[in-house]
Amino acid sequence: MKVLLSSDQIQARILEMGKEIAADYQGREPHLVGVLKGACPFMTDLAQAIELPLTLDYIAVSSYGKATKSSGEVKLVKDLDQGLDGRDLLVVEDIVDTGLTLNYLMNVLRARNPRTLKVAALLSKPSRRLVQVEVDYVGFSIEGLFVVGYGLDYNEKYRNLPDIVVYGG
Ligand code: IMP
Ligand code: MG
Repeated sequence: MKVLLSSDQIQARILEMGKEIAADYQGREPHLVGVLKGACPFMTDLAQAIELPLTLDYIAVSSYGKATKSSGEVKLVKDLDQGLDGRDLLVVEDIVDTGLTLNYLMNVLRARNPRTLKVAALLSKPSRRLVQVEVDYVGFSIEGLFVVGYGLDYNEKYRNLPDIVVYGG
């Protein structure tokens, strides 16, 4: 499969993102919420690249099947361990495609009253968006290709690849 982003490219970009985030959150303590399972490698590397005291939590969502997918309705499979009231919440996502999942998630999280709410996504496919959703920190904008590796899966496989590759490419 064709390498779209090598491990070295990914790591270099994450260091830049970490610096930018650390500068923006200077004097604060961001609370990073990673979206399982795809965002795990990114969450780990990004958190290490942010030179600030911070805390981590995880949430897992799954879409309800094709029929309701267009509504963006997703099911919370694993909720957060900690509350969000007054915190500087940074959602960490692997990829924003149609935006439906993130849009739903943002509504759920916003209702829990964080002080601030921002999003960091390693990848974004802007041409595929069905709903407008703001992504504050984007690692790489890519075409509407299906990619796997570095956390991203196809049928739960390929998450362990160090590079991001075009599936079937
Ligand atoms: P959404 O379409 O923005 O709601 O994206 C929902 C989810 O689809 C993402 O969080 C990923 O788990 C998955 N996804 C979207 N595009 C890709 C891809 O290119 N490779 C692997 N997973 C993807
Ligand atoms: Mg995901």
